[in-house]
Amino acid sequence: IYLRLLRDALPEWEILGWPDAAEAADAVTHVAAWGAPPGFFARFPHLQVVFNLGAGVDSLLQRDDLAASVRIVRLLDAGMAQQMTEYCLYGLLHYQRAMDIYRRQQQAEQWTPRDARRANNLRVSILGLGELGQRVAGDLSGMGYVVQGWSRRARQIEGVDCRHGEAGLDQLLMETDVLFCLLPATQDTRHLLDARRLALLPEGAAIINGGRGSLIDEDALLALLDGESLRFAMLDVFAVEPLPSGHPFWKHPRVIITPHVAADTVPADAVAQIAANLRKHAARLPMDGGVDRLLGY
Ligand code: NAP
Ligand code: GLV
Repeated sequence: IYLRLLRDALPEWEILGWPDAAEAADAVTHVAAWGAPPGFFARFPHLQVVFNLGAGVDSLLQRDDLAASVRIVRLLDAGMAQQMTEYCLYGLLHYQRAMDIYRRQQQAEQWTPRDARRANNLRVSILGLGELGQRVAGDLSGMGYVVQGWSRRARQIEGVDCRHGEAGLDQLLMETDVLFCLLPATQDTRHLLDARRLALLPEGAAIINGGRGSLIDEDALLALLDGESLRFAMLDVFAVEPLPSGHPFWKHPRVIITPHVAADTVPADAVAQIAANLRKHAARLPMDGGVDRLLGY
């Protein structure tokens, strides 16, 4: 589908699919890819730009076949932000409307209504206020939830209590009912939610991870779930994907697993961005979504 969409959007460019690109490797200057096999990029000696067909660039930055001179450009939203709001909202409603508890009651044939929890009494915290996080924050705040957000630099989002830097994180965790992780996987965010920080969450809080598995120390998370101090975790991303067979998350009564599907790239949106960026690059203008290799996102 990308080949057709790119050819339609960029009639003035020669767009090659696979394996034609391998035949003409010397002439290739720009590549759009996701999950390319190891060594793939090394065959293009004149490669200038890699367009990542997703938001997260962690796996691209770990490769050894991309020269430092190659620019990496990622997608901004590209239809993913709305889907991430939907994913987060699903988990939030699961918590707010006590679906986890009613499931257990159903299994025990138990009819016990609980007091409803009001949105304006539910503290939602979002780690990462980028393309996805800020959209989720704004949408949930618009629905009446008490929304707090956290990022590296100071941010301002209407209706959202924005905090930043390491100092702001501990306090935020202590004041959270449902925690959303929408950070990129970088050196700085690896195991950001370690045993100490996870333990700051109030008793009965829930975690929803739509960012990357490396953000959370999974053993520490398991221990809190086993000890029932966390109500549940809804996890779309894992340290190892696919989640290995027999992993304790699979059958854990307090874990909801989805197979890395929280937000998929919408090809038409992606191609529109790539086309605009290609034209900018050809005109020596800055492209949107350029990745800072040192920061890792
Ligand atoms: P983005 O626009 O680059 O935003 C990243 C956010 O994280 C920014 O707010 C940034 O802070 C913050 N951040 C980065 N490093 C930090 C640190 N050390 N401390 C505190 N905050 C930090 O990324 P995005 O497009 O929103 O996507 C976020 C991530 O979601 C992606 O990297 C990817 O891993 C994941 N994702 C998952 C799926 C899925 O299906 N599960 C789909 C798409 C994306 P600043 O605002 O200060 O820069
Ligand atoms: C998906 O996980 C993405 O980063 O786009």
